[in-house]
Amino acid sequence: MQKIILTGDRPTGPLHLGHYLGSLQNRVELQKTYKSFIIMADMQALTDHSGNPEKVSSNILEVALDYLAVGIDPKLSSIFIQSQIPEISELTMYFLNLLTLNQIERNPTVKEEIKQKDFGNKIPVGFLIYPVSQAADILAFNADLVPVGADQIPMIEDTNMIARKFNQTYGQEVFKECEALVPKNFSRLVGLDGKAKMSKSLGNAIYLKDTSDELWNKVRQMYTDPEHIKLENPGKVEGNVCFTYLDAFGEDLVKIQELKDHYSRGGLGDMTVKKYVMEVLDAKLSPIRARREELAKDPAAVMSIVAQGTQEARNKVSETMSKVKAAMGIDYQV
Ligand code: TRP
Repeated sequence: MQKIILTGDRPTGPLHLGHYLGSLQNRVELQKTYKSFIIMADMQALTDHSGNPEKVSSNILEVALDYLAVGIDPKLSSIFIQSQIPEISELTMYFLNLLTLNQIERNPTVKEEIKQKDFGNKIPVGFLIYPVSQAADILAFNADLVPVGADQIPMIEDTNMIARKFNQTYGQEVFKECEALVPKNFSRLVGLDGKAKMSKSLGNAIYLKDTSDELWNKVRQMYTDPEHIKLENPGKVEGNVCFTYLDAFGEDLVKIQELKDHYSRGGLGDMTVKKYVMEVLDAKLSPIRARREELAKDPAAVMSIVAQGTQEARNKVSETMSKVKAAMGIDYQV
């Protein structure tokens, strides 16, 4: 049997280079070997956007376009919308009984997000328990592999804890444990400002859909070495966003090393480096951009790919649900 991948994103904005490096690239490769299901986790996005559902729903098409533009192939990967598979919510309800409030509150990623989002003592319950819903996303497919960024490892640990607990509680091996696949070198791409990870909310992101002009404007803003004022000054490579991006996306390692050496010695201007960064990024992004523009001309066709993917996903989930209900003894014939 072909092994299964389940992974995806919260549709709260178009996808950026951080997504590309941290997961999209990987997915395009992996879909050749694994049956892939790609979730647009709109319900998870709603856990902190309940008052702004438009922001989530309007990004379904954007994210689907990004997926297809980078080379996710609907013949190999089923792209689906989380909320359109009610069985995932159903499974979440059963899972919620299998762990304690204490166990859920231990998840370091959720803890960190709670701080960042300034919930104070007004944490939405749905937000607090989203790792359980994410466990349902994964286990509903009995996924073998979950390619994610390093911040998602606690989610996978929770998922496996729930899988074990379910099997143990209901005395059947309904679920298998899954494995997180985290990209080795660059799990988190730093943003243009060099301060934090690339993210939409921090305004430091390069989007896959950015035009060439937008891209160049962003490359020009990249944080370099603030002490590198005169051309002849030695410059710092470490922490210099230009070099971080060259390491991440450049292919000509010899040239990159030369540039680094030259920059460190002095005599190499930021503009020269930035022009090369632009060349490297544009070479990656322009084919993606072109495909995306083409696909965007027919949104109905894109949504029909999503509808098809959602149907495939739902078929898979319903197999799991039969086993779940049988194991729990709630497969009533009514
Ligand atoms: N939590 C993931 C993120 O924020 C999105 C996600 C939802 C996901 N369900 C998933 C990832 C299941 C992997 C598997 O990016």
